[in-house]
Amino acid sequence: MTIDEKNPIKPRYRVTESLKASPRIIADLSAEDHGSSITVTSGVIKASIQKDPLKIDFYQNNVLSVTLNGKGLMRFEHLQRRSQAEPMEDPDSWEEEFNSHRDSKPNGPEAIAMDLTFPEAEVLFGIPEHADSFALKQTQGTDPYRLYNLDTANYEVDSKMGLYGSVPVIYGHGTERSAGVFWHNSAETWVDISGTRKPDPPTARFMTESGIIDVFVLLGPSPLDTFKQYSDLTGTANLPQFFTLGYHQCRWNYDNETDVKTVAAQFDNYDIPLDTMWLDIEYTDAKKYFTWDPVTFAHPLDMIKNLTDSGRHLTIIIDPHYKRDNTYFFHNYCTENKFYTKFANGSDFIGECWPGTSSYPDFFNPAVRQYYSSQFKLSNFQTTTADVMIWNDMNEPSVFDGPEVTMLKDNIHFGGWEHRNVHNIYGHHQLMATFQGLLQRDSNQRPFILTRSHFAGSQRYAIIWTGDNTDDWPYLQHSIKMCLSEAVSGFSFCGSDVGGFFNDPEIELVERWYQAASFIPFYRAHANMGTKRREPWLFPEKTRLIIRDAIRKRYTYLPMWYTMFYEHEKFGYPVMRPILAHYPKDSNGFKVDFEYLLHDHLLVRPVMERGVDSVNVYFPSKDGGQNGDVWYDIDNYEKFDKVGNQSIKVDDHKVPVYQRGGSIIPKKETVRRTSLMMKDDPYTLVVCLNKDGYANGTLYIDDEKSYDYRHGKFIYAKFEFSGNTLKSSFASKPDYMTKSTLERIIIAGLAKTPKSATLHFENQTQQLQVATFEKAISISKPGVNIAKEFTIILNSAGSANPVALKFVLLFLFVKFVLKGF
Ligand code: NOJ
Repeated sequence: MTIDEKNPIKPRYRVTESLKASPRIIADLSAEDHGSSITVTSGVIKASIQKDPLKIDFYQNNVLSVTLNGKGLMRFEHLQRRSQAEPMEDPDSWEEEFNSHRDSKPNGPEAIAMDLTFPEAEVLFGIPEHADSFALKQTQGTDPYRLYNLDTANYEVDSKMGLYGSVPVIYGHGTERSAGVFWHNSAETWVDISGTRKPDPPTARFMTESGIIDVFVLLGPSPLDTFKQYSDLTGTANLPQFFTLGYHQCRWNYDNETDVKTVAAQFDNYDIPLDTMWLDIEYTDAKKYFTWDPVTFAHPLDMIKNLTDSGRHLTIIIDPHYKRDNTYFFHNYCTENKFYTKFANGSDFIGECWPGTSSYPDFFNPAVRQYYSSQFKLSNFQTTTADVMIWNDMNEPSVFDGPEVTMLKDNIHFGGWEHRNVHNIYGHHQLMATFQGLLQRDSNQRPFILTRSHFAGSQRYAIIWTGDNTDDWPYLQHSIKMCLSEAVSGFSFCGSDVGGFFNDPEIELVERWYQAASFIPFYRAHANMGTKRREPWLFPEKTRLIIRDAIRKRYTYLPMWYTMFYEHEKFGYPVMRPILAHYPKDSNGFKVDFEYLLHDHLLVRPVMERGVDSVNVYFPSKDGGQNGDVWYDIDNYEKFDKVGNQSIKVDDHKVPVYQRGGSIIPKKETVRRTSLMMKDDPYTLVVCLNKDGYANGTLYIDDEKSYDYRHGKFIYAKFEFSGNTLKSSFASKPDYMTKSTLERIIIAGLAKTPKSATLHFENQTQQLQVATFEKAISISKPGVNIAKEFTIILNSAGSANPVALKFVLLFLFVKFVLKGF
């Protein structure tokens, strides 16, 4: 639904570039005008529009799911010319002073607002990015949640302040249904939350500084349906290159080429896997992007080769502020071609950032994007290779001497639009250009970009992290809450600076952060300039080993991570999921944000409290009562099948993570220096049975790097265990070759330990050994190529397998017949 001004003095801004594609208008829409109201129907969906006062009710299957303007809080301020304007009560209506800054507000106040009610909901969530709980809090008597991309160094937790990204999608969920609303506007927005449940259901009032009312109503009815409806609109993360799911090592800064090489080599010395080294701003020549410091990084190609020779990658930072230095090619080109964002008076906008006096390319201009993109081509950025990935930071944009450390709202962008209209989608346009740039550099390699600023849809181009956090326990806890909110809002690939960006973390926090982040999509350690070095070997041995174990554990699960991201791209559901995603009837789980699900495979409850020897794990209910899933501790396959809170003992090494009974997870158990080195290694399947002795799962494999998978070059195996049989099958014949075999199967939850197992594939039969393993069984060395269909049958004690039976008969024959009793 859109509401625009009827005859504005000039067009009002409509967001473009955030949707994946233009929405499809469906043909079977019918409308009936009843005089005071209009009903619009399409299949099971109905909208009832009451004309005066305006109120719009959205029904699905005749259940009222979302109401717009039910509280009559809609506002729409018309654009005005100052000369014709009515006198206004508010002295800031036309010109606003903020510290030394003045916002000229050329068309006066132009805000819009509307209330959105979720009649069936008991909890609202979404609208990242805030360092707050997953479930949105009431805002009466406090500030509303703010959506305004800002460089908020030292941000507070439990706060509704705007952070680096803004994703204006909100969801309401209750035991009967979920629904959502995407408020498609890139201007500064505030959101008030009120109401709890029927008869006063949760309401969100969105108030936005400019633009039009443009909302998408997402009618669910399940949480996963609603998340998918949102990603159908704005897209998903692209399937990442495999290595990006490994471990990343960053700090501000690695000082020179030797430093980079030494750190990478130390990871090998200490047997800790590492996939990517990162370089922060100091690698550049005087903070001029697309250059290298001529002294400290004089031989970048050698340094890059040193990393890529061992299967590693380098990621470097490229920010959106450009040094005003007339010996700098980029600046000169942008100046000559009028590529910079403008002040209200039309001259180039100038602000302070890392390089000192800087200007900011107007990424809204396609020609600017084209120029910037072309800088990534190896013919231009000759001192890089196609293995160098990109980090776009400070792109809110951060302007040290600007109002609230950002641009002036009356700055002018391409098309004459004021910055106030587009602020939250500025960074997004840089990402579009970076993404294009990496494709221009190598069209068949999937780009990897990390961004700080983000808006709805930025997930199509880049992954995110939670910015400049602090070395304190609440920041570790909030990394989960924040990434969960981001995940349901399109950003599945999210992480936090492990250890905390600011200060020098205490050892226990470092250990717990490494353990927690090992189960978070983006796994990167990072630290501020001036903090003590914190590479894993600089800690006491015990800590180093804990870090090593955490990273190594991550690598064993890489096949699961990769499969989850493939399925994210294919099906549109988040990778990291709140409990309510799979337990929508369990109201006790609605607000849980100290634990989460990975897909519907793992329940993860990291230890995020100092000095504890036990933590509370919540095992969710399927029906709101005592009916839950069976869960297996991934370290020893101990079974948990009671619903509710349970206190779990934790020592320094323990991270409570549980595999759901009913799932099959692919792993690789031999951990090597990089993910690339593990490419051809064999798989282990971990089969955890549900109460009916059933489980299923999937495994996705491709070349881990290119877009060939979009042309069918992949393997997507399905596994199913039922009765006493594990079967693999393929929806379509695999068109990709792998050397990897099936090395081992672990099965948890069997009533009896089988005596042996028989493998069948391609008319061959092979006997396999079965042994007990922790509280499960392990079947060794099927050895079959993972791209082949196979069946493994467990031979229980009662029904001995045919080969074993032959041996028994032979023995009896020899003993009794030949020896003559
Ligand atoms: C701010 C980023 O948030 C931080 O991660 C980075 O180290 C600094 N900018 C310097 O580039």
